Amino acid sequence: MTHTELSRRVRAHISQAHRYAHVVRTARFAEMLAYHNGASTTQARLAGMLHDLARLYPATRLLEECERRGIPIDAFARENPIVLHAPLGAEIAREQFGVIDPAVLSAIRKHTLGDAGMSRLDTILYLADALEPGRDYADRAALANIAQHDLNAALRATLASTRDAMLSRGRRIAPQTLAALAFYNA
Ligand SMILES: [Fe+2]
Ligand SMILES: [Fe+2]
Repeated sequence: MTHTELSRRVRAHISQAHRYAHVVRTARFAEMLAYHNGASTTQARLAGMLHDLARLYPATRLLEECERRGIPIDAFARENPIVLHAPLGAEIAREQFGVIDPAVLSAIRKHTLGDAGMSRLDTILYLADALEPGRDYADRAALANIAQHDLNAALRATLASTRDAMLSRGRRIAPQTLAALAFYNA
């Protein structure tokens, strides 16, 4: 699939200008991070373009489509079905966009909550999604700079910043994110 064809199909699938613009910025940012950190820019761009295919599905559809495919739904996801857009998005990338690269599918699966032991591509997509220029929070630009030369340092700092933001809003932290925080000593 050419990049133009991919863009057209993702745009049609997402059908909201605002979300599609985030997807394109995430793909560009992921490609840039891959370039600066010696990873595949092709994989990074593809993961970025396909990471939010299920992001706008309502909670009932997320739960239903995950159940139908046997995608595990833990207690945290039951209470916060929005997080299911990551593993479901990976399945849609496989089923409807023909992606078979396990590295790309893994990055899509982990982009929202993170996980213990993330691959380089997992880390690139997680950071690109969190740090793309459309995101609006105090540390963004500083973290984006760190990410260009030290992915693990940026991952630690971004996980810590996510944890602090969640705690200050009195929100629970997902088990996968807690596992990532522990694994990376964030
Ligand atoms: Fe997402
Ligand atoms: Fe996203």
